[in-house]
Amino acid sequence: MIDKINQLKAEVESLTAATQEKAEELRIKYLSKKGEITSLFNAFREVPNDQKRQVGQLLNELKEAATAKINDLKESLENSASTGSETDLTRSADPILLGTRHPLSIVKNEIVDIFARIGFTIAEGPEVEDDWHVFGALNFPPEHPARDMQDTFFIEKDPDVLLRTHTSSVQSRVMLNQQPPIRVICPGRVYRNEAISYRAHCFFHQVEGLYIDKDVSFADLKQALLYFAKEMFGEDTKIRLRPSYFPFTEPSAEMDISCNLCHGEGCPFCKYTGWVEILGCGMVDPNVLEACGIDSKVYSGYAFGMGIERITNLKYQVKDLRMFSENDVRFLRQFESAN
Ligand code: PHE
Repeated sequence: MIDKINQLKAEVESLTAATQEKAEELRIKYLSKKGEITSLFNAFREVPNDQKRQVGQLLNELKEAATAKINDLKESLENSASTGSETDLTRSADPILLGTRHPLSIVKNEIVDIFARIGFTIAEGPEVEDDWHVFGALNFPPEHPARDMQDTFFIEKDPDVLLRTHTSSVQSRVMLNQQPPIRVICPGRVYRNEAISYRAHCFFHQVEGLYIDKDVSFADLKQALLYFAKEMFGEDTKIRLRPSYFPFTEPSAEMDISCNLCHGEGCPFCKYTGWVEILGCGMVDPNVLEACGIDSKVYSGYAFGMGIERITNLKYQVKDLRMFSENDVRFLRQFESAN
């Protein structure tokens, strides 16, 4: 009996099956009612009592080994049946090349990451907007000449539907929906009716920021922007703020950074001034806060906005703005290592 068990054990261990049917035949041969292993269990009755313990143990081991082996065979046949042959005939013969991130996306992510580190979260809004969110809520009175500052693509008139000219429209949406403290950064595409040239396009990209809370001052704005400039262009970058005008901020300023090519010495890029302009900013006009349902006696805030193309030009010296939207892979591939 013990010899028979050992012989069957060796046999079971070396079983193979090429198909499911063959594996099933093996199960019948060893484990079915009339199978070889089952019949050994039947013969177990005749084993002398003093050997029953040892033989019983061996028999159980044999049955377990056979069941496991045959199940394994069935399982692996099932898996290979579902994948078919080793060769995948549906695969393309050409290797699929990985693309690269667009330079504007690289720079946008960098700007967003910098402001995320000082607590700003992203807010987004629609590109097709109504007059109220783009102009009305932002203190542009009807017929105010300030509206001429940003030539607008209108989709419908009365009521006006238009392509947003700045992502400040997202700021009005946030203020209308949320009470301070507000600390958001609004990246997105904007549209203006400009003649297309190497330095202007009818669409471009912006990141605008808005911070509203109690006791927010111009010093907070300046410090946040200085932090941004150093993170983006290097620790030795200097900033300067020049008085300016925007309908939605008072006071308003344009911010220059020390030219990152000549480090302020003067070069053709900065027209020998040592400075390059990068963004507009200011303290949110109380009229804007009130129009958006925020109490201007309790809260104050700052806002800023920059063009992503402009920042990208400063970082990578792209001479012609049109290259950003022409999708020429020879241009785009140059940013592979910046990804
Ligand atoms: N919205 C302005 C623009 O598009 C930029 C800006 C934003 C200026 C916020 C001041 C404050 O030019």
